[in-house]
Amino acid sequence: MSTPTKPFVVAGVILGLAVGVSAQSVPTSSPGVTVVQVNAKRVATCDGRANFEQYCASCHGIDAKGRGPAARALPTPPADLTLIVVRHSQAFPETYVRESIRGNHAGGPLHEMPEWDRVLRSVSTSDQEATLRLVNLVRYIESIQQR
Ligand code: HEC
Repeated sequence: MSTPTKPFVVAGVILGLAVGVSAQSVPTSSPGVTVVQVNAKRVATCDGRANFEQYCASCHGIDAKGRGPAARALPTPPADLTLIVVRHSQAFPETYVRESIRGNHAGGPLHEMPEWDRVLRSVSTSDQEATLRLVNLVRYIESIQQR
C-alpha cells in the first residue's frame, strides 16, 4: 500500500539542482518548472518558516537579522538575511541564496555556515522532501526581504 503523494509545482527554481528520483515519485521538469512529489504526510515538515526557525534561527536569529543566541560564539558574524536584496541591487539572487545554503557559496566556502545540503537530506525521508525544504527556505528568505 503506498501512501498518497501530492505534486508540488515549483516555478522558476531548481535550475542546476539535480533532483534525485526515488521509487514512488516521478519528478518531471520542463524549462523553469519542476514538479516535486512529496508524501502528503511530510509536506508540513517542509514549511519554510518552520525549517528556518528550527535550523537557522540559532545563528541568524528568529528575525533573520543575524543575532541568534549562537551568533556571539562565532568568529564570523551570521549574515543579516533580510538585507540580501539591498546587498544585491534590489533583485533577489535566488540561485546565489539556494547555493549558499546548499554549501556552494559563490564567493568560496563560508566559514561558520554549515553546508545544509547534506543536513536537509539527513532529516528528510526522500531527496524530494529535502528539495522541497530547500526551495521553501529560499522562498521564506525572499519573503522577509526589506526593500
Ligand atoms: C552555526 C551557525 C549558522 C547556522 C545554524 C546557519 N547559518 Fe547561515 N551563515 C552563518 C554565518 C556565520 C554566515 C556568514 C558567512 C560565513 O560563514 O562565512 C552565514 C551565511 C548565510 C548565507 C549567505 C548570506 C549572504 O548574503 O551571502 C545564507 C543565505 C545563509 N547563511 C542561510 C542560512 C540558512 C537558510 C540556514 C538554515 C538552514 C542557516 N543559514 C543556518 C551561520 C549559520
